[in-house]
Amino acid sequence: MKGDTRQKLKFPKPSPFRKYWGLATKTVFLNHGSFGACPKAVLAVQSEFRRRMEAEPVQFLWRHYEGPLDVARNALAKFVGARPKDLVFVPNATTAVNAVVRSLQLQPGDELLTTDHDYNACHNVLVETARRAGAKIVAARVPFPVRNADEIVEAIVGAVTSQTRLVMVDHVTSNTALIFPVERVIRELEARGVDTLVDGAHAPGMVSINIKKLRPAYYTGNLHKWLCAPKGTAFLWVREEKQEGVQPAVISHGNNRPRPGYTGFQDRFDWCGTIDPSGWFSVAEAIRWMNKLVPGGWGEVRKRNHDLAVKARRILCERLGTKPVCPENMLGSMATIRLPDKYQDVPVKGRIDDEQLRLYDEFGIEVPFFRIGTAAVRYFRVSVQLYNTVEEYEYLADALRQID
Ligand SMILES: Cc1ncc(COP(=O)(O)O)c(C=O)c1O
Repeated sequence: MKGDTRQKLKFPKPSPFRKYWGLATKTVFLNHGSFGACPKAVLAVQSEFRRRMEAEPVQFLWRHYEGPLDVARNALAKFVGARPKDLVFVPNATTAVNAVVRSLQLQPGDELLTTDHDYNACHNVLVETARRAGAKIVAARVPFPVRNADEIVEAIVGAVTSQTRLVMVDHVTSNTALIFPVERVIRELEARGVDTLVDGAHAPGMVSINIKKLRPAYYTGNLHKWLCAPKGTAFLWVREEKQEGVQPAVISHGNNRPRPGYTGFQDRFDWCGTIDPSGWFSVAEAIRWMNKLVPGGWGEVRKRNHDLAVKARRILCERLGTKPVCPENMLGSMATIRLPDKYQDVPVKGRIDDEQLRLYDEFGIEVPFFRIGTAAVRYFRVSVQLYNTVEEYEYLADALRQID
């Protein structure tokens, strides 16, 4: 820490849940959204899988691979309301989006529809795939600030044309931190004969998911964010009749080595070259462990996080004098908040904004800043996980007011 600014503010006391995570003690960690944070107990289970793998690499990876993978897949299938046979693990949502989009058979003139709230890495997958096929990208303009779910549905549906082959829509957007009405979007697109790929990178653990009910063509979700599983854990769900046409981003043995009891889809994805599968194998434990942390299980985890996100946003908007960007029911466990005027109209200098670096260096606060829209309006985003407290957001508000 540099300077003495920090001494002027009282450092917030940690939450009673904080001890279950290995987060650095002098950090106020308000950015669960970027990469998640895995509890120590889940990491211990992962370490045990790693120990077993390194004790007998060949036995573990050749002979005893499917057992723990299926335990994890079955637990996850139950958690997201899907059949295990339609579900495969991937290292991250980006990999899943690559698999789906790059498997499409596109013709020149076809259109891939996304929104201007999409995640840059996934947007790039669309751009490169479209470029190779002579197809076109269309980005529906979803208003931000946004008043209600209708505005989102109308923006997406209004951008569909007879050339639209796929719509990629976020379940929870990244920079703008909005829960999108994905079920309504999927039904509207279905009625027009258009497939939806749901980018649910932030959804598992933050919002309740029932994929059978949603029934998009494709759904991917990260497990290393809000499910609190180890890094490198995500899933891809593909509707049965679409599975044959989807190849993984990395093709390996599965294409010509069927295993009894598994679908071709699972054969192709379950092994994509040698990796450390201990994170995937620990997914059932992450689901189980988080579920028993509070009396009401996952429902209570989601509710507590949402309630604190709402409260944190109220405090921050009030103390900074800025208006909320969406109704409270569009928030999950994150909130994006407009920075006060004194922060606006500052040119971009480095990869990370100066004030964001100062919050960390001088106050120990980890929180991301963004520039959103064509006017590059500056915002920051807070995340809420069980290890956070209301005092931490008050401390952030005070720190933001001190920086000049
Ligand atoms: C909406 C969205 N999609 C995709 C991703 C990519 O996740 P990953 O880097 O784990 O592939 C993110 C990451 O934050 C995201 O917010």
